Amino acid sequence: MATPVSPVIEFRDVARVYGSGAAEVRALDGVSLTVEKGEFVAVMGPSGSGKSTAMNIMGCLDRPSSGHYLFDGVEVGGLTRDQRALLRRHYLGFIFQGYNLLARTTALQNVELPLIYKGLGRAERKAAALAALDKVGLADRAHHDPSQLSGGQQQRVAIARALATGPQVVLADEPTGNLDTRRSVEIMDLLQALNRKDGLTIVMVTHEEDMAEYASRLIWMVDGQIQSDRRITGAG
Ligand SMILES: Nc1ncnc2c1ncn2[C@@H]1O[C@H](COP(=O)(O)OP(=O)(O)OP(=O)(O)O)[C@@H](O)[C@H]1O
Ligand SMILES: [Mg+2]
Repeated sequence: MATPVSPVIEFRDVARVYGSGAAEVRALDGVSLTVEKGEFVAVMGPSGSGKSTAMNIMGCLDRPSSGHYLFDGVEVGGLTRDQRALLRRHYLGFIFQGYNLLARTTALQNVELPLIYKGLGRAERKAAALAALDKVGLADRAHHDPSQLSGGQQQRVAIARALATGPQVVLADEPTGNLDTRRSVEIMDLLQALNRKDGLTIVMVTHEEDMAEYASRLIWMVDGQIQSDRRITGAG
């Protein structure tokens, strides 16, 4: 009998409550969803609807107040703090709106950073980081620091950093939020190619419908709940 494949991400009735009493905010209010390997999911919804809260839980940066989060079939709530950190380092890649690159540090060193935490030796690290920079078309900028790169290039370095460790899932919270349309399209083309060619699983928050169209599925959140969840054709 074939082994059943678990979804890479599964929320079972997840709630995340901040504060208490009159100040209580239900940032997530009973969210259930599954993401299969190889999906490219866009998450949209008004400000404050719980998108980043959901991403933080998916990224093991935060935990549900109630309900269950399973990563690749493993209940994250049952892991120790150290195990969660390992899960983050080995299985997850993060891309943020503000790039979050270290200043006065070359593109290569920025991409090497997560590999240091992963325990790779120096030569292996450099080779993996260069390969990742090559993948995002920036091999020739390896020795530039962020101040010498455009916004779009900085975001590509951040994508290389997210890819360098060979993650199962990349989580991107408004990756094109700081970019003009042309640079945004470049970033989306890149993410879409990584999804289609390499089968990378991507969950991406965006406020822009044009960017969401690059995904293959669109989840719409309102008031901490999923209002709609549907397949889309995917641009490009
Ligand atoms: N650390 C916190 N403490 C208290 N409330 C919080 C905290 N983080 C988020 N919230 C509240 O939880 C709700 C969901 O926030 P979240 O950041 O997930 O929204 P979002 O959908 O990502 O919004 P945006 O589109 O503006 O980024 C909001 O009402 C927010 O004020
Ligand atoms: Mg947010």
